[in-house]
Amino acid sequence: MEKKGLLVSLEGIDGSGKSLLAQNIFKKLTEQNIPVVLTKQPGGTNLGLKLRQILHEEKDNVCDLAEYFLFAADRAQHIKDIIIPALNSGKIIISDRMADSSLAYQGYGRNLNIENIKSVNNWAMQNIEPDLILYIKIDIKTAQDRIFKRNESLTSFEKEKTEFWEKVIVGYEKIFKDRKNVITLDGTLSPEKLTTLAITEIINKL
Ligand code: TYD
Repeated sequence: MEKKGLLVSLEGIDGSGKSLLAQNIFKKLTEQNIPVVLTKQPGGTNLGLKLRQILHEEKDNVCDLAEYFLFAADRAQHIKDIIIPALNSGKIIISDRMADSSLAYQGYGRNLNIENIKSVNNWAMQNIEPDLILYIKIDIKTAQDRIFKRNESLTSFEKEKTEFWEKVIVGYEKIFKDRKNVITLDGTLSPEKLTTLAITEIINKL
């Protein structure tokens, strides 16, 4: 079936404000009666929810390579169950993270082989790429302050040290440097301003 919808992914380090932005975009587009699906990796499917729990809570028992393959398994199921049907029915999909998170976190953050990740990512994604990537750029200190203020128990990723986040940020910058469909947004802007900027970019793509 011919692809009709629009796939938008949101990327950024933990604490960048991505998830709030995803929800706000969803609300605004829904108010305008634009058909939109809000989803996420990991955790957009039943399998993904189980994998997300392992990834968040059992890092001590999961080596870096296995961690990557759990994200890839989540990704494969997510593409099949959520992304392809929504694209085929002409919806806008807002996905809180997609394949680029694995490149940044497992590739650059954990030093796994970048070319192998690209190739398995493409396989898991059935060669579907986001039409638009919104990269929410933020400094590590602001992101960490936000995470600590949330007062929730920290995931295994949120417990990572500054050195890890530095590598992930460098990774994102490298991955997105020559990509045409990436818009970088300043994560220190107010949620309202970020939402307005994001909606403008999405509407431009329709
Ligand atoms: P989640 O609670 O969904 O965090 P966030 O709201 O920041 O997305 O947990 C997802 C965590 O998994 C997050 O720390 C980023 C990490 N992650 C990877 O390391 N690789 C990946 O491919 C993906 C999709 C996420």
